[in-house]
Amino acid sequence: MDIGCGPGDITNDIILPALHPNAVIIGTDISEDMIKYARKTYSKEKQLDFDVLDIQTKELPAKYISEFDHIFSFHALHWCFDIKQAFKNIYRMLRPNGTMLVLVVSLHPICKVIQETIQDNRFAPYIKVKIHAVEIYL
Ligand SMILES: C[S@@+](CC[C@H](N)C(=O)[O-])C[C@H]1O[C@@H](n2cnc3c(N)ncnc32)[C@H](O)[C@@H]1O
Repeated sequence: MDIGCGPGDITNDIILPALHPNAVIIGTDISEDMIKYARKTYSKEKQLDFDVLDIQTKELPAKYISEFDHIFSFHALHWCFDIKQAFKNIYRMLRPNGTMLVLVVSLHPICKVIQETIQDNRFAPYIKVKIHAVEIYL
């Protein structure tokens, strides 16, 4: 599984070619629009499919439990507020001796830009600050 697959290009272009030729992979994302686009653009019968899944869910679908040898997630898990639940779900979806490869953003120059923008009166009314993240309303 590729968690937070977005439009599916990384799942299709990078992850899939790196796996066994017979590997079956599913890209999941919280966004229905992303999954709709990924399905339309990259679905391959029997090998690559996409599904909507919030990795923080407390009701992990039974069909995903102990189902995966490898779980990937690139640039997605830092959006989770309930990161503990996210990792619980990843653990439950892995088979024994399964592996996970996770890439998250811990620090980026954009963080400094956002921090400064929050303090600027011109933009402050449009920005709602949460504990771990910032939402910008356009
Ligand atoms: C920056 S994109 C990364 C897309 C792709 N993995 C890549 O590396 O190009 C982050 C994706 O994480 C998804 N996402 C955010 N929170 C999520 C959650 N709780 N569960 C699943 N996906 C989530 C977003 O909808 C978005 O498509």
